[in-house]
Amino acid sequence: MFVIAQISDTHIKPEGRLAYDRVDTAAALATCVAAINRLDPKPDLVLATGDLVDAGRRDEYDRLRSLLAPLDMPVYLIPGNHDDRDAMRAVFPDHRYLGSEGFIQYAVENLPIRLLALDTLIPGKGGGELCDERLAWLDRTLSAAPERPTIVFLHHPPFRSHIPGMDQFGLAGTVGLNAVIRRHAQVERLLCGHLHRPIEVRFAGTIASTCPSPAHQINLDLRPEGLFGYILEPPGFQLHVHVEGHPLVTHTVPIGDWPGPYPFSFKRPQAS
Ligand SMILES: [Fe+2]
Repeated sequence: MFVIAQISDTHIKPEGRLAYDRVDTAAALATCVAAINRLDPKPDLVLATGDLVDAGRRDEYDRLRSLLAPLDMPVYLIPGNHDDRDAMRAVFPDHRYLGSEGFIQYAVENLPIRLLALDTLIPGKGGGELCDERLAWLDRTLSAAPERPTIVFLHHPPFRSHIPGMDQFGLAGTVGLNAVIRRHAQVERLLCGHLHRPIEVRFAGTIASTCPSPAHQINLDLRPEGLFGYILEPPGFQLHVHVEGHPLVTHTVPIGDWPGPYPFSFKRPQAS
């Protein structure tokens, strides 16, 4: 069994600051990290799918780094629309896979399931993009290992959520992404963030999904003039479980203290 924990949209602020003056995103991430470390079996690695910090600032990445440090397993980072590539690289120089310039796209090899990171960032914009250069890298990299089950992870999901406030910050290049993914049947999943909710959609013959945030969730309001905002519903993360010969299984895990677990107990009917 190979277990991947996905965390997303941690939106870390500088010391002493709350997101939207209300959400303590650092405390939320600390609780999430502790919850992941307590799992048995322990995840083999963590994917952090963007919006790692709130404003792409170095002091935010410094704080993120210390919040992630207690994790007992490696963590792989990709940028979201709130991130800054240069500041990420400056604060995580030991994360060599981030590279030194250009897009942050990489493959993680030598695992039971192959991981391919995509960079959808357009600096200064809320929406994302997969341009021809980024898609060509994906096509080339998938072509190199057609037999290996593969997870592609990216911040912006390649689908509409029908939450109008979020769909205005969508992903450009989804037609091209669809065409690339359709050529490579080994793609088990496209794991995304951005929507701060667990959502699944059929995409290009595979499944595209998004992950809840360990902090605030996006308000679920499907009305055209619905309230576009955040809500403090139970925070969460996801576990993606790979077992050789089986399809990838995704569990969404709420973060918190809950009564239980209790064993099922059944009273056998008495013979009369
Ligand atoms: Fe976000």
